[in-house]
Amino acid sequence: MKNDRFLRALARAPVDCTPVWIMRQAGRYLPEYRATRARAGDFLTLCKTPELACEVTLQPLRRFDLDAAILFSDILTIPDAMGLGLSVEEGVGPRLEKPLRSRADIENLAVPDPESDLGYVMEAVRLIRRELDDRVPLIGFAGSPWTLATYMVEGGSSKEFSLIKKIIYDEPETAHLLLSKLAAAVAAYLAAQVAAGAQALMIFDTWGGVLTSRDYENYSLGYMRKIVNALDRDLKEDRPPVILFTKGAGQWLEKIASAGCEAVGLDWTVDLDDARNRIGDRVALQGNMDPNVLYASQGRVRQEVARILKQFGSGRGHVFNLGHGIHPGIDPENVQVLVQAVHEMSIPFHD
Ligand code: CP3
Repeated sequence: MKNDRFLRALARAPVDCTPVWIMRQAGRYLPEYRATRARAGDFLTLCKTPELACEVTLQPLRRFDLDAAILFSDILTIPDAMGLGLSVEEGVGPRLEKPLRSRADIENLAVPDPESDLGYVMEAVRLIRRELDDRVPLIGFAGSPWTLATYMVEGGSSKEFSLIKKIIYDEPETAHLLLSKLAAAVAAYLAAQVAAGAQALMIFDTWGGVLTSRDYENYSLGYMRKIVNALDRDLKEDRPPVILFTKGAGQWLEKIASAGCEAVGLDWTVDLDDARNRIGDRVALQGNMDPNVLYASQGRVRQEVARILKQFGSGRGHVFNLGHGIHPGIDPENVQVLVQAVHEMSIPFHD
């Protein structure tokens, strides 16, 4: 590997400077992404055409000195493969045509076979690895069972999560049936991504933070732990580092760090020094700049990078990232400023 800073930081090994990548680094803020999506016709065709998914994965790496690539895909490929019918429209967000409406719908769900039902994802991973030629590592990913369940029951993005919460309160066993199937699906999907060439894995739990502490353990973290255990069992020494990211999980960091992962993703509401004191001796930390800082001036972006690097402090185990995905309205020039600032300004923090 020509640049292994990202994998070294996840292993809490020494690095020359802090590695950086950006959630949603391939996305609408890049004009070349918009052009390739237009060529594909729509977002889902882009995901399902390995050559185009590979192309957009590499686009941000051509512009910026990023330390990792992330597979271009979506967490909702699994519900799509389970037959719920996904569409993603600009301004509307993701929609599932056949949301889960009854216990029978959940009983009838089959766990997809990654190579036959999601072969386009594995093909994209293989193509990207070939094109990357070991310049930087490739991150594979999936949604957490809980976050997938919210979309599958609500039928799309939600503010109140009333339908999925009605299930956990009225029919906890039905919720567990759904989450067990999803955990099996995610574990098999991630293992297949590793077999195809993914060198690190990230589980996105965007909506774990809407649960009570007890329910977070029962319905979200518990299933992510099962996935990590399944990967340990199935991949053994080939199990790559796993990053767990729950948005809004600042109060549960100790629990997340004990789930068997190598790194914890942090949103911007958490102070890195506090997180490091609490869990930084056990896992690496990834994050955590507010994506909205990128709407500010270049000077302000640099100032915020400096603040975050200082807050983490000297030593090992930090991967710089945003606290959530980059927004479509961001000027790519500011991403350039961010990436350069992280590399330059972090040198004094490493020996
Ligand atoms: O980080 C990367 O560059 C990899 C690509 C990636 C996408 N989605 C591409 C995408 C990743 C890792 C995801 C994960 C994802 N998808 C999550 C978890 C992370 C998060 O952001 O919380 C979630 C909740 C989804 C579901 C999803 N897919 C939503 C809510 C949307 C709409 C977003 C929007 O801004 O409209 C999507 C579509 C989507 N996934 C886009 C991209 C680049 C935008 C689609 C487009 O081009 O129009």
